[in-house]
Parts: sequence; C-alpha cells; structure tokens
Amino acid sequence: MVLKHDDALRLLREAELSVEGRLVDASNATLYCLATLDDAAVPVVYKPVRGERPLWDFPDGTLAGREVAAYLVSEATGWGVVPPTVMRDGPFGSGMCQLWVDVDEQVDLAALARSDHPDLRRMAVFDAVVNNADRKGGHLLPRPDGRVLGVDHGICFSAEDKLRTLLWQWRGLPLTDEAVEVLSRLRAELEGDLGEALHELLTVTEVQATVERVDRIITSRRHPEPSPDWPAIPWPPF
Ligand SMILES: Nc1ncnc2c1ncn2[C@@H]1O[C@H](COP(=O)(O)OP(=O)(O)O)[C@@H](O)[C@H]1O
Ligand SMILES: [Mg+2]
Repeated sequence: MVLKHDDALRLLREAELSVEGRLVDASNATLYCLATLDDAAVPVVYKPVRGERPLWDFPDGTLAGREVAAYLVSEATGWGVVPPTVMRDGPFGSGMCQLWVDVDEQVDLAALARSDHPDLRRMAVFDAVVNNADRKGGHLLPRPDGRVLGVDHGICFSAEDKLRTLLWQWRGLPLTDEAVEVLSRLRAELEGDLGEALHELLTVTEVQATVERVDRIITSRRHPEPSPDWPAIPWPPF
C-alpha cells in the first residue's frame, strides 16, 4: 500500500502498534511492528527509548529524538531522505516510530554506495548537515522504484564533528546548484519553525552546531572532505 505523506504521519501517530519481531542486525531494541488504524495496517519500525544501548559519546535516552530530528531536517530540505518518523508512545513506552520501506533486494549495496545516484549525492549533503556518524551500507534503502532512502539516524547531531559515511565520492567537489539553494532555504528555516522543533529534541548547543555546519557548507560551496581527526568510514561498513 502506498500512503500519502500526511496519511502516513497520522497513521504513525495514531495507529495501534503490535510487535511482530526484532530486527536481527540491529544494535538496539529495534522492533518490526504492524501499525493498525481503521482498516489500514502497515509495517513500521519502533525503537523504544528504553531499548537504547548506552553509548559513550551520546547522552542516554536521546537516540529516538535524534531520529525524529533527522526526519524534520530531511523534510525541510524537500529531499525526502528519511521515511516518515514520529515520536510516540508504544508497547515499550515512548520511542520513535518510522514507516517501513520495502527495498529491492537485488540491489548490491556495496556498488550502490559507490555509485553517483543523485539521491545519494543529496544524502551526502544531508549527512554533513546532521553530522551523521553512521552512514553504513545497511542504512541505505534502495526502493524498487529506484529511489534511495536512508535510515538509522540515532547518532546524528553531535556538537562535535563526527561525520562517518561511505558516501565520500563527491568529497571536495562543488555542491550542485540545487543543493546550494536547498541549504539556503534550510538555513532560514533553522531560524524559524524547524529550529524550534529541533530545540524540543536536541540541546541548544547541538542546534547551534547544526546552524554552524550549514553555514560552513554554504560558505565552502563544496562537499566536505573526510577529516584526518576521526575515522571517516563507519565500522563495520555494512
Ligand atoms: N524504516 C525502515 N524500513 C525498512 N528497513 C528498515 C527501516 N529501518 C531499519 N530498517 C532495516 O533494519 C536494519 C536495522 O535498523 P537500524 O535502524 O539500523 O537499527 P539500529 O539502530 O538498532 O542499528 C537496518 O539496517 C535496515 O536494514
Ligand atoms: Mg543500524
């Protein structure tokens, strides 16, 4: 079933969640659920805050909020990198709930991650904005219609630079005109409703660091380069 965006958000917020299973290659309690509302039932991912594994470099209990924040930034870009994601109550308490995306299992993720797919080029800019510390191959979702979405944005928005990604094929290259335009609009929205929404999910310092990253990318007009100061490729990469 293909849902319109608003219908998807309503369903994510209001549906009854029933846990169907746990995703095996997940590092946290990442649950595959059916979300049922009226006569619609769609698969979703539900990550309860309580199931988050503590990390040394991110404060406890904040990963679900970072995933929602990443979705909001993705929406503000208009690029639709992140599937619809909300924060809500569920069978194991408050958590993030995200629409399940069916993928084309035939796609070779290693080849895709090295390709010049335009969705990935946008995703590379998005990742630089949200400071994604975990853009590994398994976090790319190639849909059967050819679009590529991204998931698992729990370790984004650190105030310290931590960009870790497989998508370095555009490093140092000039941004597309489209990306420059999108970033300028995003910068303005960070001063408005988007900024306010992010303050509900992130610290003041983290929101400020996001603004500074956007400014830095706009000023350089280039895709960032991997830093020599931290591992620039996620481990394991897939
Ligand atoms: N919304 C989604 N739609 C389809 N598959 C997903 C979705 N979210 C996660 N997955 C799949 O489940 C795997 C584990 O989810 P992930 O978000 O990476 O969990 P964790 O935070 O525990 O690592 C992902 O690598 C991906 O293959
Ligand atoms: Mg993951």
